[in-house]
Amino acid sequence: MKFVRFIMKNAALASVPKHIDHFSKFSPSPLSMKQFLDFGSINACEKTSFVFLRQELPVRLSNIMKEINLLPDRLLTTPSVQIVQSWYIQSLLEILEFLDKSPDDHKVLGEFVDTLVSIRNRHNDVVTTMAQGIIEYKEAFSHDTVTNLNTEYFLDRFYMSRISIRMLINQHTLIFDGTLNPIHPTTIGCIDPHCEVGDVVQDAFHSAKMLCEQYYLRSPDLILQEMCSKKKNHPTSIVYVPSHLYHMLFELFKNAMRATIETHDDSNNLPPIKVLVSLGDEDMSIKVSDKGGGVPFRKMENLFSYMYSTAPAPQIGERTRPPLAGFGYGLPISRLYAKYFQGDLQLYSMEGHGTEAVIYLKALSTDSIERLPVYNKTALKNYKVSQEADDWCIPSKEPLDLSRYKVPK
Ligand SMILES: Nc1ncnc2c1ncn2[C@@H]1O[C@H](COP(=O)(O)OP(=O)(O)OP(=O)(O)O)[C@@H](O)[C@H]1O
Ligand SMILES: [Mg+2]
Repeated sequence: MKFVRFIMKNAALASVPKHIDHFSKFSPSPLSMKQFLDFGSINACEKTSFVFLRQELPVRLSNIMKEINLLPDRLLTTPSVQIVQSWYIQSLLEILEFLDKSPDDHKVLGEFVDTLVSIRNRHNDVVTTMAQGIIEYKEAFSHDTVTNLNTEYFLDRFYMSRISIRMLINQHTLIFDGTLNPIHPTTIGCIDPHCEVGDVVQDAFHSAKMLCEQYYLRSPDLILQEMCSKKKNHPTSIVYVPSHLYHMLFELFKNAMRATIETHDDSNNLPPIKVLVSLGDEDMSIKVSDKGGGVPFRKMENLFSYMYSTAPAPQIGERTRPPLAGFGYGLPISRLYAKYFQGDLQLYSMEGHGTEAVIYLKALSTDSIERLPVYNKTALKNYKVSQEADDWCIPSKEPLDLSRYKVPK
């Protein structure tokens, strides 16, 4: 029996490249916030969602698996990236099992939910494991600018793909596991049709404040102002995923608090962190301003690099508390969350003064459409970028010897 299972497993593994080739030929289908809501509305149909996902999940998985295969060999073969790749293969195979099963069979639908839950759990540590792979690679080999750019390009797409796959899985499992969210009965899966931004700001600030006080024994205050161009004195709300918004704000607050405290460590009064929430016709913008001394302009472009951090590297262990900073993933991942529904996250800084971080989200749910990576010739070309000469002059470090140009008198 064991032997038969071994043979079957190997046969399934051998067929993986063929499946990846097949499904990566399809482009992922981005869903709008409205479509997500429709899947969860009163006439929600589990069968439709099942039939959609058993095709769409393999498409999204295969598109990104093609890109994993394009990583430099020395990165692809690190133990951590191998583990990540094996998780993707196993999850792909598990979903493919449902391709020829009947959507009319309740047992099948139940098994599908269980499979999605176990896939979600399997992929819990993907971000840290992939990050570990990059560290292993950087430690073992000297890296050049091109490899760095390729890795950044890949990680943005890889983590964005992961956000989108988790969104699909969360929606299906939360909506069709037959229970209501007891705390937020009006949410549809993980989407809140009336997400009050001010409340999420307060929650995220409170959590960052607790973490900050553990480290520095003090923390700055919050001043929150909400503005809405249409409804005066109304709390500003949008259709959004509160957990995504919370994630972004929590990261921004941790950064702002650290900068504020480290810049004012000899003062009794800490300048507060100001948040301005503004809802317009098109955009919902959230500005987080601190007086934490800012960042030199030269370093601005590094801030969104994975693993760029000016904090000491945190120790990871069971007994250690979660760090306030140090992985260098806070900003790049938060920007992906903002971009996922066509928004953005930008940082403006004035060295010597402070920093303003602005999250831009779409005000209308019809504009909030998933932004997804697709594997195609353009993507392929981006992995083949080679080191070419700069087309801007590089100033010489030595002063130019002008004596050569001297005209004899
Ligand atoms: N508001 C800010 N003021 C000053 N510097 C900032 C601010 N926000 C970010 N930075 C700088 O950008 C770097 C990267 O920020 P990021 O949040 O990505 O990583 P981190 O805070 O170092 O670690 P973590 O992944 O734990 O968040 C920080 O280490 C810090 O030097
Ligand atoms: Mg941070």
